[in-house]
Amino acid sequence: MNNLPSKEAGSAAGSMAGAVQSRLSKGLSGTVQVPGDKSMSHRALILGALAEGKTRIRGLLQGDDVLRTAACLRAMGVSIERRDGVFHVIGRRWQPSDRGLYCGNAGTGVRLLMGAVAGQQIAASFDGDASLRARPMGRILAPLRKMGLCAEDQDGKLPVSLEASPLKGIVWEMQNASAQVKSAIMLAALGAEGETIIEEPVRSRDHTERMIKAFGGALTISATGEGGRRISLTGPQRLTATDITIPGDPSSAAFLLVAALLTKGSEITVQNVLLNPLRTGFLEALKEMGADLSLGNEHDAGGEPVGDITARFSELKAIHIGPERAASMIDEYPILAVAAAFTKGTSRFEGLAELRLKESDRLAAIADGLAGNGVTRRLGEDWLEIDGGAVSGGGEVATHMDHRIAMSFLVMGLATKLPVTIDSSAMIATSFPGFIALMQGLGAKLTQES
Ligand code: S3P
Repeated sequence: MNNLPSKEAGSAAGSMAGAVQSRLSKGLSGTVQVPGDKSMSHRALILGALAEGKTRIRGLLQGDDVLRTAACLRAMGVSIERRDGVFHVIGRRWQPSDRGLYCGNAGTGVRLLMGAVAGQQIAASFDGDASLRARPMGRILAPLRKMGLCAEDQDGKLPVSLEASPLKGIVWEMQNASAQVKSAIMLAALGAEGETIIEEPVRSRDHTERMIKAFGGALTISATGEGGRRISLTGPQRLTATDITIPGDPSSAAFLLVAALLTKGSEITVQNVLLNPLRTGFLEALKEMGADLSLGNEHDAGGEPVGDITARFSELKAIHIGPERAASMIDEYPILAVAAAFTKGTSRFEGLAELRLKESDRLAAIADGLAGNGVTRRLGEDWLEIDGGAVSGGGEVATHMDHRIAMSFLVMGLATKLPVTIDSSAMIATSFPGFIALMQGLGAKLTQES
């Protein structure tokens, strides 16, 4: 297995990868699968590492972010081996590592690991790359400190050191819809004394809740008010190893589907995609835009709904997406913005404040990328308006080392007269290793610039 224990090991397998140019393409076609879901992959490794016995994980995303989480767990004494594409994790009580835990670019990795390490009541220090060092960690540390954790941070950012601290259950009202915060609290609560209650006003992805149950853990979930949820978990709890199969990542499938929608004569089927309703907001949005999308082979796999999605070239129309829908498509706004640029009419997306806190200031990166390719857009602190129908291409897009910005603008260039160039494809390996080759295999004209 690719072991990436330290900062020196480099931030991405493809960190040598440079600029890539995308040119007008048509007739993309094929039936493919995308790598495993990133959110589920982090959780499967972490919960497997906490559980008693051997957990076998099939379909794990072997992207840099997830391999970092595996390396951090191994640094704490957990055995993780890959045999014939299956990851075997033998859970145990974690040991403090004599080296810092380096999480690279992975926000989900560092935040979930911090919660789980706090619950294990061992000391550890965490760090990440320049992008991760710029992202807020106070939102994780505040509830963990309330549980009793002693931690040192740099103004709410990495590097962060946790002290071995006894934890107790808390009641926590979520300020924003963040599955990372919710999950960090739940993972800590597994090792804390007493009941922890988390109230979320807006539902965020629920893979941690589903997977804790799959590992034999006990938690209750009840509905509150308008669409909110109350989650209660009493610790300490021992989990039991289980086998997990991870379906394809819908956030990765989104790039292929939109590529088919935007390029003439295209039809692409992505098989075995996770269809958890808290992740598929972008499919609803695309359908409202007039996308020819169809689902097939829908079934349940490992406690999650899964199916095949087919997208065909479509004339799209503009859309207004309100803030209440943001959580269900938070990672898909970059590619939705690209789709909106090709519609007739003005699209408006609201409730986007969280986008400023992702791997880059994604809202600014989207707006700049659009403007650089001839699209008129208006930008607010937490909203974006896009005038569709006049995309020239020809732009050089600054990805700010953000994988989703890189893939989104490569898709844009497949449908513009002039080519679109991105400054770096290195970070694509964090979530979608093999993206460029897969797209080329479908007929996309993507070329690495030397
Ligand atoms: C994730 C939650 C989301 C999402 C991220 C993955 C997760 O972040 O943007 O890519 O796996 O829990 P927030 O929880 O910060 O919204």
